[in-house]
Amino acid sequence: MKNKEKKRIALIGSTGSIGTQCLQVVDSLPEKFEIIGITAMTNFKLLAKQIIKYKPKYVCIAPEKRAELERELKESSFKANFEYAEIADIVRREEIDLVVVGVPGFASCEPVFNAVQAGKEIAVASKEAILCLGKLLFEEAEKKKAKILPVDSEHSSLWKLIDSYPRENIKKVYITASGGPFWKHDKSKIENAPYEEVIKHPVWNMGVKITVDSALLINKAFEIIEASYLFSIPAEKIGVKIHPEAIVHSAIELKDGTFIMSAHFPDMRIPIMYAMLYPYVEDIPFEIPSIWEKPLNFFEPDFERFPSLLLGWRCAKLKEPFPCILVSADEVAVEYFISRKIRFWDIYTIVEKTVSYFEKNRDELPSPMMSIEDVKKIYEISKKKAKEIADSITKKT
Ligand SMILES: NC(=O)c1ccc[n+]([C@@H]2O[C@H](COP(=O)([O-])OP(=O)(O)OC[C@H]3O[C@@H](n4cnc5c(N)ncnc54)[C@H](OP(=O)(O)O)[C@@H]3O)[C@@H](O)[C@H]2O)c1
Repeated sequence: MKNKEKKRIALIGSTGSIGTQCLQVVDSLPEKFEIIGITAMTNFKLLAKQIIKYKPKYVCIAPEKRAELERELKESSFKANFEYAEIADIVRREEIDLVVVGVPGFASCEPVFNAVQAGKEIAVASKEAILCLGKLLFEEAEKKKAKILPVDSEHSSLWKLIDSYPRENIKKVYITASGGPFWKHDKSKIENAPYEEVIKHPVWNMGVKITVDSALLINKAFEIIEASYLFSIPAEKIGVKIHPEAIVHSAIELKDGTFIMSAHFPDMRIPIMYAMLYPYVEDIPFEIPSIWEKPLNFFEPDFERFPSLLLGWRCAKLKEPFPCILVSADEVAVEYFISRKIRFWDIYTIVEKTVSYFEKNRDELPSPMMSIEDVKKIYEISKKKAKEIADSITKKT
C-alpha cells in the first residue's frame, strides 16, 4: 500500500504493555493509522476508554466481561456503535491491513496463525506464537503471502542489520540481554528471589509474564529461537551478550571482522512503530532521551547462574516440537510462581525436566507437526507433564 494511505489496524491485546504503546504510536501518527478492531481479555475499564477514543468497528473481550464493559460505556454516555467479534474473525476481516499481536503465551498462536492464513501483515510481539508454530507458520506465510514483522526490540534491530548486508558476509549475529534484576546476584539469592523483586525489571516496563521470563533469562532463550526462525539462522550462529544499559539491541559480525551494532534508547515504541510503518520510515514523532551520555558495557552470560539461557540453543537444535514444549512448560511454571506455589529457580527446574522428559519420550507427541491441531496437542501434553513435575515440587516444599 502507498505511504499516504492509512493502515487499518486490528490490535490484539490492546490493554497490555505492547497494546497501549501501539496506541501511543497511533496517537503520534494519526494520519497513518486507523484502529478498526481492538481486543482485551478482562480489563473492561481501559478497553471502554479505548473504544470511546478510537471508535473501533470490532471489539472482543471475554464474554463474562461484556456486561461490565457495556455498563462502563453507558456511564460515560457513549453511544456504542461496534460489533462484538471473535479475535479469529477480526484478524481475518477484509478491511484490516495490519494485525498487531501483543498477547502473552500460547494464546497468541491462533491470532497470529489466523492472520497469516488471511494473508495479512502481522506485527508480532508475541514470540511464543513464533516458537510454538515454528516452520508451520513461516510455510503458511509464504503460501498466503502474509508478512511476519518482528516487534521484539532485538529482532527489530537485527532485521534492519540483516536486510542491509549480503547474507554470505554475515558470520554471526548477536542479541543482547539487559540481564534483568539479578544479573549480579549470587546463585543462592537468585534461587529464592521473591516475586516482588522478580517483577521489578531495571529497564523495561512490561507485562508480568515477560518480566518473570526476563529475570530468569528464559525470555532470552525464547529470543534465540525466535531469531533462528525469523531470519533462518542456525542457533549456533546466534550469540547472546549481557548489556545492562539496553541501548545496543543486536549486532552482526561480518566475515572481515567488523561488528555492526544496532542501537536505540530502550523504548518499545521505536520497534513497534518500525513494524507498523514498514516498509516506510518516518521521523520519530515523540521525544526520546539521547543515548550518547551513557557508557556501554558488555559481558558474557553466566550459565551457572542463568542456565535457562542454554535451553534456547538446546531446544532450537532439537527442533520441533521442542520450542513449543519450552513455551508450554514455562507457561505452567510461571503460573505456579505467580501463585506463590514454587520458588523462582523452580521455574527453570520444571522447564528443564519437561524438555528432558520429552527428549526421552518423543513418541508421546505428534510428529511431524503438520497442523495447528498438532501444535495444540503438543501444548496440552507438555503442559500436563509440566504440571506433574510442578506438583511434585510443591509437595516437597
Ligand atoms: N511488553 C513489552 O515491552 C514486550 C516486549 C517484547 C515482546 N513482548 C511480548 O509481547 C507479548 C505481550 O506482552 P505484554 O507485556 O504487552 O503483555 P501484557 O501487558 O500482559 O498484555 C497482554 C494483553 O493481552 C490480553 N490477553 C491476556 N491473555 C489473553 C488471552 N488468553 N487471550 C486474549 N487476550 C489476552 C490482555 O488483556 P487484559 O489486559 O484484559 O488482561 C492484554 O491486553 C508477550 O508475548 C511478550 O513476550 C512484550
